[in-house]
Amino acid sequence: MSKRIVNVGLVGGGAGAFIVHPHQKAIHFDGTRRVTCAALHPDPAVALEEARNWTYPLRGYGSYEEMIAEEMKKPIGERMDYVLIVTPNHVHYGPAKMALEAGIPVFCEKPLTVTLEEAQDLSCIVKEKNIPFCVAHTYLGHWSTRMCRHIVRTGLLGKIRWVDAYYIQGWLAGRTEDKGVVQAEWRVDPKRAGISGCGGDIGTHALMQLRYVTGLEVTRLQGFLEAFVEGRRLDDHFTTYCELNNGAKALVRASQISIGHKNDLGLEVNGEKGTLRWRQEEPEKLVINLPGQPDRVYWRGEIQPNDGFLGDVPASLLQEPTIPSGHSEGFHDAFARLHRFFEEDVRAYQNGSYKGEDGARYATVDDGVVGIAFLNAAVESNQSDHKWVSM
Ligand SMILES: NC(=O)c1ccc[n+]([C@@H]2O[C@H](COP(=O)([O-])OP(=O)(O)OC[C@H]3O[C@@H](n4cnc5c(N)ncnc54)[C@H](O)[C@@H]3O)[C@@H](O)[C@H]2O)c1
Repeated sequence: MSKRIVNVGLVGGGAGAFIVHPHQKAIHFDGTRRVTCAALHPDPAVALEEARNWTYPLRGYGSYEEMIAEEMKKPIGERMDYVLIVTPNHVHYGPAKMALEAGIPVFCEKPLTVTLEEAQDLSCIVKEKNIPFCVAHTYLGHWSTRMCRHIVRTGLLGKIRWVDAYYIQGWLAGRTEDKGVVQAEWRVDPKRAGISGCGGDIGTHALMQLRYVTGLEVTRLQGFLEAFVEGRRLDDHFTTYCELNNGAKALVRASQISIGHKNDLGLEVNGEKGTLRWRQEEPEKLVINLPGQPDRVYWRGEIQPNDGFLGDVPASLLQEPTIPSGHSEGFHDAFARLHRFFEEDVRAYQNGSYKGEDGARYATVDDGVVGIAFLNAAVESNQSDHKWVSM
């Protein structure tokens, strides 16, 4: 018998919005999830109008408060099973807290919140209620990211010495915020974006990539937050020099003024035995460099265990229920993998078998907390002549 379809409610995502669209495609990817309701805009009248104009039928609500209250009056099966929050950063905490308190699992965009106190509060509620919570660090959903994690965490590169985690863009090299680009307007506003612009927007992805793949944590850092575009109140260029908890060093850096770079998120991990290189703009592969050997390029779907470098490879990395290799996977597939894992946890939560999430499949609320603590440390260091700040 086919499974009941899991219902998703949207907070944010009205006309002209960006990230809601990759998400809603990913939600519908497998036929086991669907978007059924939404509060799409801060103005109730606009929110209802945009819901009426949506490309498929939706229960529109004037606000997320109304959506959560009204949906909870419906029986399971009819109401939303989880909420997806795709609003600017300052509107993550409110709907996330309200949904958690109502017992609704939350899939929330990054950065988790604009303050550490808010992030920690969400973490406490998640633990008290043992309820699924995902922070949308998209790139963890690539097969290649998961394979990188397997390689590094099983020690195939030896002890890790140095990591370069970067996310480089060029779209804010000019005053994009003055050209009617809504995504730029709120990203350069401290009230809506938080204490770091570029660092919060994309530096947190670079940090998450480092932590997820290596399992290492930043213990202390020096931060350099720069605004190259005149008049900008938040950084558009963000650099941290970090110490990791195994003694390794790392750069976690991001830029939005590097003309020519699009979504150049990458990770290079240097260990005592070899180097791993990964770039999200070519997300189907990863490269391993070993001393005195030709480069090894591993492609999704083309892995042979025990090939002279790899040992055994978990079945979950060998048997991906997606398309054969050579038919490219990308951004939407990564999001779909995260929603697929989250759906499993939502179903477990509803049938009483949910055991909590260890962060192996998607970023948890505590990963979100680390992201905000990292931004706080970077800002503190930047404001104090770049001194070392402990995390
Ligand atoms: N994971 C990723 O790869 C990724 C990529 C882009 C953006 N993001 C994150 O997603 C979030 C949204 O970014 P975006 O670029 O899509 O922004 P956007 O400006 O395109 O869309 C934001 C939407 O939220 C709506 N909104 C604002 N306040 C609201 C409220 N109170 N109630 C209901 N709706 C409200 C706006 O009307 C708009 O529809 C941000 O937190 C951003 O950091 C993540």
